[in-house]
Amino acid sequence: MSNVSIDVAPGPGFRYNLWTTGCQMNEADAARVAALLEAAGGRSVDDAREADLVLLNTCAVRQQAEDKAHVRLRYVGQLRRRNPRLVVALMGCMVGTNPERMAALREAYPFIDLFLPPSDLRPLREFLATREAAPTGDGVGCVGGGETDDGRPPVPAPDGIRAYLPAVLGCSHACAYCVIPYRRGAERSRPSGELLDEAQELVRRGARELTVLGQIIDRYGLDRPGEMHLPELLRRLAEIPGLLRLRFLTSHPNWFTDELLDAMADTPVLCPYVELPVQAGSDAILAAMRRGYTAEQYRALIRKIRGRIPGVGLSTDIIVGFPGETEADFEATMSLMREVRPDMIRVAKYSPRPQTLSARTMSDDVPAEVKEARRVALEGLLRDFLTEKHADYPGRTVEILVESVEPGGRRRGRTPDAKLVFVDGCDAPPGTLLPVTITWAGPFSLIGEPG
Ligand code: 5AD
Repeated sequence: MSNVSIDVAPGPGFRYNLWTTGCQMNEADAARVAALLEAAGGRSVDDAREADLVLLNTCAVRQQAEDKAHVRLRYVGQLRRRNPRLVVALMGCMVGTNPERMAALREAYPFIDLFLPPSDLRPLREFLATREAAPTGDGVGCVGGGETDDGRPPVPAPDGIRAYLPAVLGCSHACAYCVIPYRRGAERSRPSGELLDEAQELVRRGARELTVLGQIIDRYGLDRPGEMHLPELLRRLAEIPGLLRLRFLTSHPNWFTDELLDAMADTPVLCPYVELPVQAGSDAILAAMRRGYTAEQYRALIRKIRGRIPGVGLSTDIIVGFPGETEADFEATMSLMREVRPDMIRVAKYSPRPQTLSARTMSDDVPAEVKEARRVALEGLLRDFLTEKHADYPGRTVEILVESVEPGGRRRGRTPDAKLVFVDGCDAPPGTLLPVTITWAGPFSLIGEPG
């Protein structure tokens, strides 16, 4: 996969610039890449002009994300012309797992030295190993300080006190609009033993909150005969001493189980928070999307979750302007959201993606301005009901996990149900569980004081 020759390899103490876009899985991949590069003697720089190696970790879920990567690639191409020794690596969903795609990218951007499929660090590891074997005489650059030699990803340094634990890689669900299965490959769960070891190591390195990741996280273990399933994995992770909070995402309505609710109800470390994309409120659109449930089934699931886990935080995703979406279909989405009132809605305008069923068989027939108007309407609705929902927060005491210190000393953290809270007049370090009395509430964040 690599076409790198050793004469462009970065030297000891090389500087790398990592550019990443996209989902939490991409952030998790980026943390692993950074850990691998650091173990090989690399040092991160913010400015790509100062780098010996630049790595672009890309997203392809919407055309806009891919466009961003093309802009960045053209910029990196200029840097490479100025510095022919610059090593350029392209990673993630734009690369995918199909060699033909890589060949096409190589033709379009001949300066790319390394291609890394999503979550697959092997080409980089091989490249670094070649570099180490080269007679540079420096003796520096031990590859993979924290690695095992069985191809496992290195344990990343946690980003502050939070870290991701990718548990299910790839996806085999094939929603009509989604490119992920074509780029991240078939669904595969990592062995629970490996995940538990990695989680322990992350906590040992300072992580206090872990988020277990998968495209359909509820399907954890189903592809591995004899493996534990998600509720058991979460219970076992929750026992790790020093771990204060545990989250998981993303869920799919058809795979969300009662056992998972049991685990949420009786495991204090496991946060009362679910990310459960609905994508649309019209049954016709849900069927065309191949989601496998109706709006009523989604409503019933939310009722059940809320009945079992009072105060649970709910986040959902919606695509507006899917092929054939009429005003009536969109109104069904609006009315579902008015009724369910999630704590967050991530709205995306439909964009046809290569190879997907919708791109192959349906026409992208909702005009751009209609998609935009629907996005604005949904986001307006969200802002309005969150303003209402949060109106009774002032005076209430919540518990946050301090996750970072903002400029000026303000603490930033989240409640167990994932509300964003800022706290003034407090010097608690990141990683502290802190009671906070709310003094101000807006739709997307709360402000409070300690105590
Ligand atoms: N167009 C627009 N949005 C999409 N998503 C996935 N595929 C597409 C597409 N082709 C959205 C879905 C998903 C989120 C990660 O991105 O809402 O939940």
